Amino acid sequence: MKKIVILALTCSLFGLSSAMAESIVASKVSDDLSKININSKVWQGAKEQSFIAYPQTTIEMIDADVIKLNAHNKAKKILVKALSDGQNIAFLLKWKDSSNNVQEGYSATAYGDGFAVQLPIKLDSLPYIGMGSEGRPVIVHLQKATGKTYEPNGNKDVYHQVNASNQNAFEKDLQTYKGDVTALGNGDYQRAFISEGFRSMTQIKDNSEDAMMQMSYSKGMWSGVIVRKLKSANLDLSKGTFPVAFAFWDGDKKNRDGAKVLSSWLGVSVQGSNVKLSYLDEMNGGDAKNGEQVMLDNCSSCHQYKEIKNAPNFMAPNLSNIGGYSNASYLVESITHPNAVVVPGYNVNAHPSYPWYSVDDKGVRTSMMPPFDSLDKKSLTDLVAYLKTLKAEVE
Ligand code: HEC
Repeated sequence: MKKIVILALTCSLFGLSSAMAESIVASKVSDDLSKININSKVWQGAKEQSFIAYPQTTIEMIDADVIKLNAHNKAKKILVKALSDGQNIAFLLKWKDSSNNVQEGYSATAYGDGFAVQLPIKLDSLPYIGMGSEGRPVIVHLQKATGKTYEPNGNKDVYHQVNASNQNAFEKDLQTYKGDVTALGNGDYQRAFISEGFRSMTQIKDNSEDAMMQMSYSKGMWSGVIVRKLKSANLDLSKGTFPVAFAFWDGDKKNRDGAKVLSSWLGVSVQGSNVKLSYLDEMNGGDAKNGEQVMLDNCSSCHQYKEIKNAPNFMAPNLSNIGGYSNASYLVESITHPNAVVVPGYNVNAHPSYPWYSVDDKGVRTSMMPPFDSLDKKSLTDLVAYLKTLKAEVE
């Protein structure tokens, strides 16, 4: 509770405006959305909106190939349509992708295109954008583009599936194998997780967070759809205003885990809802030029960002795109109360010289970043204004 009060205070002190920067309006329709799919007519009348998804640069994968393939990633413009029937929320997303990567069978080197939708379980504060954080869990719905894969038991629960290249392990001839693929092939990879940060993701295997998800590729564009209930075992979005975030993986660039493009928390309001969530408000004003100097003086010894690489590699999250996928309130909170959200994505043992946090015997994480709660109001506002400029250009 204490944290929320602090955050609310910080927001009002630092002049966050009442306008949601990037927001999505879900039009109310009378159609039963639990029965629609990606091709339904109901989408035709829906208003097209857009948002930007930025390359996630917080965590660099330890894979030279992936680093090289993603070094010059630009931000992506995503088209979105949103509908609600009062019971369900439905999003139709469209994004450009010059290659259609469908993951076929099990292979450690096959990467499919895919997308994910994140929804916070608690609506009193913003979770870490990279799939939630300790104490601020999210539901993640993940859909990957997959081809037919053979699951020996037919239960659609085998992850390490078999493909034609290692069929010998099953001592079957090719015809039998192909027959099995046809009969038992699972063409769909769709999962729901509860997550309090990367590597804490628990798959939801009962039907409590069911969603209808689909992907289809045509003329250099992916379309992806999700329809799910506003109210379920873990979520209650029935007040009609809530944050959502979207992530997109490009198989061609071997995207997986943190190598992806990611939106900030976007405010969804179902047509007619007048609930306000102040943490989605954006900041007015601030002198980004002065903020740049504040950043250089206070932050560049630990954080790398854009061409500033004074800090050693891996010392702290790379902030080159932080302004793209972070909301102003999250930035204010990160600077003044680093322990409110400790970036959970990094394995504390991966680079033992620079752990990002310590863990006590109760498992509580404490950030290595000192709280900058003594910065004066102007410096903080300027700093956030500068951080908001840190983002890749749109492709
Ligand atoms: C002593 C090193 C250090 C200094 C100095 C430091 N940070 Fe950090 N910062 C970290 C570490 C480590 C993390 C990751 C753990 C966490 O979330 O607190 C982090 C996390 C962050 C995050 C969250 C990143 C994300 O991907 O969500 C932001 C934003 C941030 N710092 C901004 C700043 C700013 C702005 C300053 C200067 C006022 C600053 N930091 C100074 C070490 C530092």
